Amino acid sequence: MPDTTSGTPATIAPATGKLVIFTPGLGAVATTFIAGVERVRRGLSVPIGSLTQMATIRLGKRTDARSPLIRDFVPLTALQDIAFAAWDPIPDDAYTAAVRAGVLQASDLEPIADFLKGITPMPAAFDSRYVTRLQGTNVKTGANKRDLAEQLRQDIRDQKAKHGAERAVMVWCGSTETFIKPGPQHQTIEAFEKAMEENDDAIAPSMLYAYAAIMEGVAYCNGAPNLSADFPALLDLAVARGVPVSGKDFKTGQTWMKTVIAPGLKARMLGLEGWYSTNILGNRDGEVLDDPASFKTKEESKLSVLHNILQPEMYPELYKDFSHVVRINYYPPRGDNKEGWDNIDITGWLGYPMQIKVNFLCRDSILAAPIVLDLALFSDFAQRAGMKGIQEWLSFYYKSPQTAPGLQAEHDLFIQQTKLKNTLRHLMGEDVITHLGLEYYQ
Ligand SMILES: NC(=O)c1ccc[n+]([C@@H]2O[C@H](COP(=O)([O-])OP(=O)(O)OC[C@H]3O[C@@H](n4cnc5c(N)ncnc54)[C@H](O)[C@@H]3O)[C@@H](O)[C@H]2O)c1
Repeated sequence: MPDTTSGTPATIAPATGKLVIFTPGLGAVATTFIAGVERVRRGLSVPIGSLTQMATIRLGKRTDARSPLIRDFVPLTALQDIAFAAWDPIPDDAYTAAVRAGVLQASDLEPIADFLKGITPMPAAFDSRYVTRLQGTNVKTGANKRDLAEQLRQDIRDQKAKHGAERAVMVWCGSTETFIKPGPQHQTIEAFEKAMEENDDAIAPSMLYAYAAIMEGVAYCNGAPNLSADFPALLDLAVARGVPVSGKDFKTGQTWMKTVIAPGLKARMLGLEGWYSTNILGNRDGEVLDDPASFKTKEESKLSVLHNILQPEMYPELYKDFSHVVRINYYPPRGDNKEGWDNIDITGWLGYPMQIKVNFLCRDSILAAPIVLDLALFSDFAQRAGMKGIQEWLSFYYKSPQTAPGLQAEHDLFIQQTKLKNTLRHLMGEDVITHLGLEYYQ
């Protein structure tokens, strides 16, 4: 961490030149993100949902009336300076993939079709044993997994040279891989590199991308619940190489809603008997999650949220043994337009029961795309400010935020937002804001 005592801005390298945003995965989320950035920079759309583009940040006392846009306060990369590069085992270019994903309408895609057709995925480090519902043809071959990782590193160098960029960020937008628990292969970098050379099953493709990114000094963000970079070998490597890392699993849809409602219940000391969540989803992600092994990875990510916010061990009368069930059902007609239902059984004064029903007709990739943009821009900013390793202040964007070893993740969206904004204030040498408002009482 840089020395950023209040009032002293961190030394922040300027955002000169281009920033390449790499996405392993050129599916619904990645294409919606890329198309959106291109439409915004052509003045065709508004970047709704993005804090880096639309949010303001209050500075100083309330009476100071200083609330600039975050992008005017913090030296972020301008949208015009972003270049894109992707890998995918399916060879479709970004236009074809976007049409196939069915998120954006033809009227939004056609004006930028040429731009999207120019983004073709590089061959992926892919193995269908980790994403059983997909078969890919645009796939790298190599002597072993370490060789594949070296090929990914070369891709990173080539793309940076092609775009004349010195800086890059990687955001995993690939499918959810099967559930893997960290083992001895994940404890040290020596063990990890040896496991790659031995083609150990515990090394999933997403780990090869994370390794390649960190070795190349490229910040890594993980939008899926896969283990990917969430183990000591790669986290230590990230610290050693001065690379920010964050994850896991973009916080969109139903889980985002949970992290809004649950803090509200707890703030009012209302009890919870049970929370039943079910979804229908028809995109490729839904198809992948139809496989029990991939769903297990997702389920673990979704279930931890309520427990962490409600702290049943601290409030047993309110939250001990509440029932929490999450279901995802693959239902092709819905495409990317997921529908989620939540039934929440709560208790009030004297234990009287009440219910909340939420029916959320959301568009998954529309919610995820601005998260990709913010994570990329903030991670690049963090790296220029000398931050490395796990970026807890980006927990705001994740369902299963990575935290320092031994600490519990913070899931409350409002605490996460405060942490994010205070980190920006702190790095820029402004006072952090406590919302005390003492000026009226003194
Ligand atoms: N859409 C959301 O709101 C949301 C929220 C949280 C997490 N996610 C996660 O983000 C990821 C992307 O979601 P999506 O809706 O775009 O899915 P998608 O299926 O449309 O796209 C994923 C793409 O990744 C590719 N892929 C799979 N393995 C790969 C590999 N090893 N290398 C490179 N590419 C690979 C697939 O071929 C596919 O094109 C998924 O893991 C999903 O679970 C999405």
